[in-house]
Amino acid sequence: MSLLLTGIGELTTNTDELGSRTDAALVIDGTHVAWVGPASAAPAADSAVDLEGRAVLPGWVDSHTHLVFAGDRTAEFGARMAGEPYRAGGIAVTVGATRAASDDELAEVLRRHVAEAVSQGTTYIETKTGYGLDVPNELRSARLAGQYADEVTFLGAHLVPPGVDADSYVDLVCGEMMDAVAPHVSWVDVFCETGAFDASESRAVLMAGAKHGLGLRVHGNQLDYGPGVRLAVELGAASVDHCTYLTKSDVDDLASSETVATLLPACDLSTRQPLPNAQALLNAGATVALASNCNPGSSYTTSMAFCVATAVLQMKMSVSEAVRAATWGGARALRREDEIGILKPGARADIHVLDAPSITHLAYRPGVPLTHSVYRAGQQAR
Ligand code: NIG
Repeated sequence: MSLLLTGIGELTTNTDELGSRTDAALVIDGTHVAWVGPASAAPAADSAVDLEGRAVLPGWVDSHTHLVFAGDRTAEFGARMAGEPYRAGGIAVTVGATRAASDDELAEVLRRHVAEAVSQGTTYIETKTGYGLDVPNELRSARLAGQYADEVTFLGAHLVPPGVDADSYVDLVCGEMMDAVAPHVSWVDVFCETGAFDASESRAVLMAGAKHGLGLRVHGNQLDYGPGVRLAVELGAASVDHCTYLTKSDVDDLASSETVATLLPACDLSTRQPLPNAQALLNAGATVALASNCNPGSSYTTSMAFCVATAVLQMKMSVSEAVRAATWGGARALRREDEIGILKPGARADIHVLDAPSITHLAYRPGVPLTHSVYRAGQQAR
C-alpha cells in the first residue's frame, strides 16, 4: 500500500540532491520512502494525506539512551539542583534497583520510555545495558532491550560494582560477560572517566568487544578532560559520547576521524556541567550528533526536541545544524546514515510531521510540543 503525503510546507531531507524544499510531497510504499519531490509532480498513490503546510523531517534518531533500569533518583537530582555535584557512583543506586526488579518490570519501563520517545518524533532508538553489572543481569538487560530498541549496546563497563575488585571486574567484562552478552548486541561501550574506567581498562574492554565483532562506542570527556576521545578515535569507534570537556587536540582528532562527537546537552544541564562547544567541533569539520541520553540519573528525558532547542538557544548551533545532528548525525553515529535519518527513495519511512510550518519553530517555540504525526517504518505511530 502506498501513501502520498502532500501539502508539505517545508521538507527537510538531509540529502544534497533533494535538500530542503517547500511545497513538497513524499510517497511511502510499505516500509520505505518511494518518491520525494515537488507537490505538483507527485505520482498517484493508494491514499493521500494533505499536511496543510506543515513541516516534515526525518524522525529523530536517538543514538544514546540507557532505558533498562528500575528505581528512582529524584532525590539525587533535587540534591544536585541544591548544589551537590554529579558523581558517577550514583549509577550503583540504579544497579541495586535494576537487579531487584522482575523481567516484567524492566520490560514495562522500556516499553513506556520507547513509547514516550516515539510519541515525540523519535523513530529509531539505541539503548544500553549497564545497570546489571553481573553476568545474569547484563544478559537479561541485553535480551530485554532487544525487544524494544532498534540497536542495543553492551555497557558492562559502566561502573565497577561496589565491593568488587577493579581488575577482576574488567576481566569478567572482557571474558565471561562479553561471551554471554555479545550475541545479543551490536555495540560495546565503556565509561572512560575518572571514577569509572581508565584508559587501559577501557582499551581492554573495547578490544574484547571488537574481537566479538561488535562496533565500538565510548562515553568520554563527560566530567573532565581525559583520554576518552583520543582512545575512541585511535580505535575507530563509531561515536564518542558526551564530549563536554574537549582540548583543541581532541577537537582536531575528531575532525580528522570517522568518529562522531555525540553531544548530550540535556545531561549537561541536569548535571550542572557546561554545555559542549559544538561550534568548535563543527568549525573544525567534525561530525556532530545530538542524543537524549535518557537515564534515571544524569538526564531523565526522552525529548530530542528539547535537545535541539537547547543546542540552538544555548550552544549556538543553527536550527538546521541541530536538526541534522539529531537525525542524520545520530544515524551516522550508528553507521546507518544511508537508511535512516534521511528522506530519499529507498530510505526507511521514518517521518516526523510538525504542527508548525518550519523546523525553525523547534527553537522559536521551545518547550511547546510540536509533534503532529509520526511514521515509523511506514506505519503511523502517532
Ligand atoms: O551517560 N556517563 C555515564 N552514564 C550515564 C549516567 C548514568 C547514571 O548516572 O545513572 C550517562 O550520563
